[in-house]
Amino acid sequence: MIFAAILAGGIGSRMHMADMPKQFLPLGDKPIVIHTLEKFVLCPRFDQIYIGVHADWLGHMENLIEKYLPQEKERITVVCGGADRNGTILNVVSCIESRFGQDEENIIVTHDSVRPFVSMRMIEENIDAAIEYGAVDTVTPAVDTIVVSENGEIISDIPERNKMYQGQTPQSFRISILKRLYGSLNDDEKKILTDACKICVVRDYPVHLVEGAVTNLKITTPGDYRIAQAMAGGVKVD
Ligand code: CTP
Repeated sequence: MIFAAILAGGIGSRMHMADMPKQFLPLGDKPIVIHTLEKFVLCPRFDQIYIGVHADWLGHMENLIEKYLPQEKERITVVCGGADRNGTILNVVSCIESRFGQDEENIIVTHDSVRPFVSMRMIEENIDAAIEYGAVDTVTPAVDTIVVSENGEIISDIPERNKMYQGQTPQSFRISILKRLYGSLNDDEKKILTDACKICVVRDYPVHLVEGAVTNLKITTPGDYRIAQAMAGGVKVD
């Protein structure tokens, strides 16, 4: 079976908006998270689409689905998010397993709720590559030169740009592989995980690359939000 896990368990502290997490802000005529969900419901290969939301926002999310996607209610399940991004993924995995059981071949396509411009091509290629390879990341070649600084004051390294990529989402896995690798990590290793693909990298499990796009923007800051509004046809970028 193939599952989607939309990650919406964060509070968006870098957006500096006190009243609601950024995934619930409007983009054109509907909230950001609804744009994202709409991309996934269009893909018939998903048996069930999970969305992990902070405990305080579960009711709000249920109401949004009722309002904007009532015809998809049976295929969307709202679950409680975790303490961090990977915690939200693991909560979704345990909900999948308690409802559908465990199967070596089951696939999970994880995606940031705040990347509403993901394309169907990226979603399809993630599913295909996850079935074939077991672990997939969506990336774009680095446009800027990447500079490494250990102390934030002096450059320690400038890696070759043609080997540098920026990681986006979707990130997709065979659930059995993700669980096995995560279960093998100790607490110190778990602390350095910035995303789910790092679980594989830390244990030398090969992660296949799928081509992302600059347009697959992650809305993190007020500036990103303005760009997203312009992309959605709302306001001009200043
Ligand atoms: N996320 C999640 N569960 C968490 C933390 C984050 O599902 N416990 C999700 C966010 O909702 C977001 C995605 O992971 O869709 C990417 O994370 P990020 O942009 O860092 O979101 P926030 O944690 O909300 O933002 P910030 O770091 O600015 O607080």
